[in-house]
Order: sequence, then C-alpha cells, then structure tokens
Amino acid sequence: VMQALVEKAQTMKEEDKLYRYNGVLYPIIMSPPENLKALEGLEARSDDVMLVAYPKCGFNWMVAVLQKIIAASAGLEKSDSKIAPLIEFYSPEVQKTISNAPSPRLMGTHLPPKDFPASFSAKKTKMLVVFRNPKDTAVSYYHFTNKNPVLPTAKSWDAFYSDFMSGEVAWGSYFDHALAWEKRMDDPDVLILTYEYLKENLQEGVRQVSKFFGFKLTEEQVKAIADASTFNAMKESSKDSHGQMGNVFFRKGEVGDWKNHFSEAQSKQMDAEFEKRLAGTKIAALLKY
Ligand code: A3P
Repeated sequence: VMQALVEKAQTMKEEDKLYRYNGVLYPIIMSPPENLKALEGLEARSDDVMLVAYPKCGFNWMVAVLQKIIAASAGLEKSDSKIAPLIEFYSPEVQKTISNAPSPRLMGTHLPPKDFPASFSAKKTKMLVVFRNPKDTAVSYYHFTNKNPVLPTAKSWDAFYSDFMSGEVAWGSYFDHALAWEKRMDDPDVLILTYEYLKENLQEGVRQVSKFFGFKLTEEQVKAIADASTFNAMKESSKDSHGQMGNVFFRKGEVGDWKNHFSEAQSKQMDAEFEKRLAGTKIAALLKY
C-alpha cells in the first residue's frame, strides 16, 4: 500500500501535495479529507495509549518505546505491531478495524489538539506529548519534506524556513501546537516530554512513560528498552521497522543541528517569534534551546 502511495506521489506536482482542512495543511495522499472526516467518529477508550507530537519532534522514537513497553508488560519478546500508528493516515475502513482491536491500543497523531476526535477528552484518554525545540524541529522537517515523496520538496532552506514560521507546512504552525498544549500542562492525563530531555535521560523517560500509562515494568525491562531505543540502535534496525524510509526517519538524531542551517537573522527572528508567542509560558520553559 505504502509503495503504491509513494508512486502516486511521484506523479504529482509539488504544489498539489498539500491541501487545507479546518484551516490546517495536510498531505493529500496520506490524509485525504475522508480520513479526517471519519476520525470525528473514532471511539477512544480510557486505556488507549495515545502519542501526540508535532512532526519531527520524536514521534517514531516514542512509537518504538511505547511498542516495547506494551510488549514487555504483556510478556512478549517483541512488539507485533508494524506500522507507525498515525490515526490521520487510517482510511475510514482501517478506522473501523481499530474499533475491534484489543486494548491497549497504541495510537498516535500529529493533529492539533483542536481537531482531536471528541471522544478522547470524554474518555480521559492518557496522552504522551513529545515536543522539540523549534529550530531543530524546523531543520529536521526541512530534510524530511525533501526526502519524503508525499510532502512537497522545498525550493530552498530559506523558503521552507518562511513556511515553517508562518505555519504553512503540513499539520500547521509549531507555535499554535505549543500554545494549545500550554493550556494542558497541568492536566493529569497529559505527560509532556521533550526530545532534548529524552536524549539526556532516556532510561528515566522510559520509566516515566511506562508509569504514566500504568504499565508495571522491572528496572531490567526499563533499561533494556532504553538501550534498544537509542538513535544508533533504532537506525540499525530501521530497515526492519521502516523499510526504505529508514534513512529518511533516522537522519542525525542530535540536538543543535539548527546551527548548521539557520542564518544569524533567522535565528534572531525565531527567538523573537518564540518570545512573542510563548514568553512566560510553562511550555517555553520546557523548550529552552
Ligand atoms: P533529525 O532529522 O534531527 O535527525 P519524527 O519521528 O517525529 O518524524 O522525528 C524524527 C526526528 O527524530 C529525526 O531527527 C530523527 O533522526 C530523530 N530520531 C529518531 N529516532 C531517534 C532516537 N532513537 N533518538 C534520537 N533521535 C531520534
């Protein structure tokens, strides 16, 4: 299926790859309107394991960690789930099959919180939210959009940077997402962790995530999961987990690569925008870079 979608994307014009839904851009091939429309009826459960991240903040990393946590707590050697579970990529037919899937269901999304299916808040579904400093997020997104055929290739770094700043990229404005989560910083059903924190404290992060979702792991299991979830370990196994897209999803895995891309003026402009939109917020304190 993936291969067919990629081939379809290769025949499309760059400017046709994104379309607007509820004011936000989405990739037409992976998230056509019928997917997003059908999501309104998705029935969340209170024991769903929900992962939320703006694109390029570490989604695939935490999918792997959560799959391993779920597998270990069920006494399995390895997770049997293969796909990155972005609910907005599910066709209406696939959405029906998840309604029959056994708990705990691992689901994920890049959607802005305002567009989540309503049942998630009704069921108080727990959500792990991953954020990353905006400069590295922009750089990672730039490389990704250029290598991923379902997203438009950027004309240049400068052009992509401008689109990122104005929120004219798939899944919308980074700053809008951050502000939306600021409102839920103290919600006991929400755990917000950053990419930078996880880079420094992976084992502690695995422990926190597992505890938050109510899984009981031994210290040995926590350590084994952290060891198997470093960038190098995941890049090595990415042929199995992500096929040919492995090198696209596991690029550099570092903090601070923005310094190799941002001009002085861009860096200052982003600092100013960050100040203007997020100054004094708790989420800004988390996202210091
Ligand atoms: P870079 O492009 O900076 O390398 P997402 O999964 O949300 O698309 O995020 C992708 C980013 O997370 C990429 O960043 C990727 O290399 C990085 N990444 C993936 N797995 C990682 C890991 N185990 N540790 C650190 N970074 C990881």
